[in-house]
Amino acid sequence: MEDKTILVVGATGFLAKIFLEKVLRVQPNIKKVFLLLRAADAKSAAHRLNNEILGTDLFNLLKEKLGANFNSFISEKLTVFPGDICYEDLGLKDSTLKEEICNQVDFCLLLLGGIETLFFTLVPFENADMT
Ligand SMILES: NC(=O)c1ccc[n+]([C@@H]2O[C@H](COP(=O)([O-])OP(=O)(O)OC[C@H]3O[C@@H](n4cnc5c(N)ncnc54)[C@H](OP(=O)(O)O)[C@@H]3O)[C@@H](O)[C@H]2O)c1
Repeated sequence: MEDKTILVVGATGFLAKIFLEKVLRVQPNIKKVFLLLRAADAKSAAHRLNNEILGTDLFNLLKEKLGANFNSFISEKLTVFPGDICYEDLGLKDSTLKEEICNQVDFCLLLLGGIETLFFTLVPFENADMT
């Protein structure tokens, strides 16, 4: 994962949270993780990140490991944005962010609920269709 950028969809979910914590803890040289969260706006997405992901006990080990550097590490590595995979362009309204994601993401991890979705999909982003 060194110097790679990934997009995680379904990050509030059970499996994706475990994946995210593990990647940040054991692969800290990952470049960036974009997190798509279902939310009305950027503020609500950030709220979900803090309450439903980083605020859970799962992240205690990483907090212990990084100590006072935890918040700056998270700010450097994570970019959270509101979206929904059911909509065109993942529901992304911010065109600058959309361009950033298209240009920077190496892999996309989809961990969505429901038996009709793929269980674990890690695809090179160049093969992903954003239209
Ligand atoms: N958990 C297990 O032990 C296990 C074992 C084998 C297979 N699986 C399979 O693995 C997959 C993930 O499981 P999980 O337990 O991690 O699921 P989960 O806890 O139900 O999480 C699902 C995630 O998908 C997100 N999501 C759903 N629809 C979305 C949409 N339209 N746009 C964006 N995000 C969306 C949810 O967001 P919200 O928070 O907004 O709802 C949530 O973050 C499922 O297909 C499951 O069947 C799980």
